[in-house]
Amino acid sequence: MSEYMSTKEIAEHREKYLMPAYMSYYQEPLHLVRGEMQYLYDDKGKRYLDAFAAVVTISVGHCHPDVVPGVQQQYATLQHATTLYHGEALVKLAKKLSEIAPGKLQKSFFTNSGTEATEFAAVIAKNHTKRHEFLSLRHSFHGRTLMSMTLGGQSLWRHSVPYAFGVTHIPAAYCYRCPLGLAYPSCDIRCAHEVEEAVKYSTSGKIAGLIAEPIQGFGGVITPPKEYFKIVAELVRKHGGLFIVDEVQTGFGRTGGKWFGIEQWGVEPDIMTMAKGMGNGIPIGGVITTSEIAEAHRGLIHFSTFGGNPVSTTQARLVIETVEKRGYLEHIEKMGDHLKKRLVELSEKHRMIGEVRGMGLMLGVELVRDRKTKEPAKDETLRMMELCKERGVLIGKGAMAGNVIRIKPPYCLTKDDADAIVTAIDEGLTILEKKK
Ligand SMILES: Cc1ncc(COP(=O)(O)O)c(C=O)c1O
Repeated sequence: MSEYMSTKEIAEHREKYLMPAYMSYYQEPLHLVRGEMQYLYDDKGKRYLDAFAAVVTISVGHCHPDVVPGVQQQYATLQHATTLYHGEALVKLAKKLSEIAPGKLQKSFFTNSGTEATEFAAVIAKNHTKRHEFLSLRHSFHGRTLMSMTLGGQSLWRHSVPYAFGVTHIPAAYCYRCPLGLAYPSCDIRCAHEVEEAVKYSTSGKIAGLIAEPIQGFGGVITPPKEYFKIVAELVRKHGGLFIVDEVQTGFGRTGGKWFGIEQWGVEPDIMTMAKGMGNGIPIGGVITTSEIAEAHRGLIHFSTFGGNPVSTTQARLVIETVEKRGYLEHIEKMGDHLKKRLVELSEKHRMIGEVRGMGLMLGVELVRDRKTKEPAKDETLRMMELCKERGVLIGKGAMAGNVIRIKPPYCLTKDDADAIVTAIDEGLTILEKKK
């Protein structure tokens, strides 16, 4: 007899006791019972290489030995006390963050999730600018509360109508399927200049800010041209708005070589949101901004019961220290380059690969039925997930059409692991292409 509940029993419990909003991957859902660095183990003891890092959330590695003991100690000493009392864990994390954050970002506020970070970033921008209209990008995802859902640019996630007031979406820099029908670089990054058009024609002319992911995650690893964000940030500021960057997926080294995704584009944000990899699996999110912008909140009370909790802030600080100690920023870059190169090589062999894109350990492979028509291979992507799972590799998927494989493994990935991911995708595509 297994010590665990059966898959059937769990499915029955989910149906009976959980809101139907929960979805699960795979025809036969995975019952995971243990995680160790880049690996996950199911109830039968089968090992999986986690190439999706629990939706880009396990940064350094599952139950990383550099993180767990310090958190256990904090947990056993002081679990919770609220930020109304003074404690070291909170300020130590805030100091560390100000050291690694780009530009003049210095003052933090901690939340429990990325969604709350989005909400608060919008509140800060409103309070600072005394304006209330925002621009956001199509294909984006920023959370699941009313404001963050409104800021999101995918109908899939926007089901709470009516939305919050005052959000206009501009086209994303999705070069593979340019929304403006142009081609890089002769396009002159027309999509970035849409900021100007949107301010002029779709707002009162007075924007509080624009929010964007440096590389769009759920959108399907949409990676803009290097010039894109410089133009966007400049135009937003020209119109008196703040440039808000959502680093929930791209933050804390994910894109390789640098701490935050926006640094890859050489742009300093006014406000930055973070979560997911920040905590390597513990619920934590946050916002960091400049001292000047933070002043908008002097005298305004903003409180979160669990935000800034000693256990989660200790874990987040240990995650940053682990990235430093293990040299993960360089390692991510090296592993990412290797993985991307091998995936690009695969695209020469497999006609279903439309594009390989992304940076560091945030990579996407867009699958198409036909390279000419670029018809999204949605069902095939689902099948590909099953085929990789059979081969002991867990991948994710994204994009509006659900046809982009998302490869975002923990930072402790080795070269052999990277090759195992490529082999699984190679074998999967060979099967899928034979069927056609
Ligand atoms: C870019 C981005 N922003 C915000 C969020 C919301 O974060 P959370 O799920 O922690 O609320 C997500 C979640 O996937 C995300 O990918």
